[in-house]
Amino acid sequence: MNFHDLAARAMHLFDPEDAHGLAIKGLKAGLGPRNRINLPILATTVAGLELPNCIGLAAGFDKNAEVPDAMLAAGFGFVEAGTVTPLAQAGNPRPRLFRLTEDQAVINRMGFNNEGLEPFAARLSHRRRRGVVGANIGANKDAEDRVADYVAGLSHLWGLADYFTVNISSPNTPGLRALQTKAALEELLGRLAERRAALAPEGDVPVFLKVAPDLEEGEVEAIVETAVASGLDGIIVSNTTIARPDTLKSALASETGGLSGAPLTQKSTAVLGEFFQAAGGRIALLGAGGVSGGADAYAKIRAGAQAVQLYSALVYAGPGLVVRIAHDLAARLRADGFASVSEAVGAR
Ligand code: FNR
Repeated sequence: MNFHDLAARAMHLFDPEDAHGLAIKGLKAGLGPRNRINLPILATTVAGLELPNCIGLAAGFDKNAEVPDAMLAAGFGFVEAGTVTPLAQAGNPRPRLFRLTEDQAVINRMGFNNEGLEPFAARLSHRRRRGVVGANIGANKDAEDRVADYVAGLSHLWGLADYFTVNISSPNTPGLRALQTKAALEELLGRLAERRAALAPEGDVPVFLKVAPDLEEGEVEAIVETAVASGLDGIIVSNTTIARPDTLKSALASETGGLSGAPLTQKSTAVLGEFFQAAGGRIALLGAGGVSGGADAYAKIRAGAQAVQLYSALVYAGPGLVVRIAHDLAARLRADGFASVSEAVGAR
């Protein structure tokens, strides 16, 4: 175990949110790891984005776009900053972040705590723009017109992010996930498409939708059809779950919020497979949820993901994890005779 992974373990002596704050401070101070992952077999192109490797940092770690370059330097093939909302908001009262150590899981009910679009945009505009950084956009809790908040996010950050993710799947903003229902989604994606068309002459970038793993019968197909019809480029499957599997051992399992980490792996991969079936190659898919090793990443790729993202496993394994996953995934691909990760997409 290297220094950075030991430091991540030591963070467990602190309250989880304090630990996260310290990690961000350390990364900002340049104390993060520098890992060069040179595995061409993992390089891929997703919706036009050229990724040096297919393992990304999921949204929620860097809500205010403070450390995207530090996380790229740690070895991630791409980084998703946010969720950012137009106005700064405090989020839910603390405690709102829980480690379920026995379950290698996390529950969070942060509630989109973030500094708002202004500082987020300013930080992105000061970057040297090396490496792929996406902006995950959301709506303020008290917004009268939530769709307008997403449109504002897209407009404000246009030209500053390499891609956008429209996050309608956080369980911690009341009513947000209702945007996944057909009529609401059509309106949201329709208004975003209009705005995007107006902005596109300044340089188009891909727009993804991020969905929950807790969907009703028929919703997968409806979401795919609406996303394709609206010209979206990809779907990220998935956000955290509101379900609580019986297998959970931790005393904190009944905390309100979204569950992520190991107990989400199978479910999110299964839902990803449903999206792959429904999509039939018409739209890119990215897999998130409980990726903590090469096997999980490979399972998502075979279920149809062109790239994966992770967050919770970092809490337990530290930032060296991305290197270990990369090497393990590369070995698995080679063992099965694939020359590149893209060949394995959907190869069950
Ligand atoms: C998240 N996640 C998240 N997703 C999102 O789209 N916007 C956000 O602001 C956040 N915030 C957030 C905070 C915390 C503390 C966690 C643990 C997670 C969800 C995250 O991006 C990912 O989709 C899920 O956590 C599943 O992946 P992992 O964590 O199991 O690898």
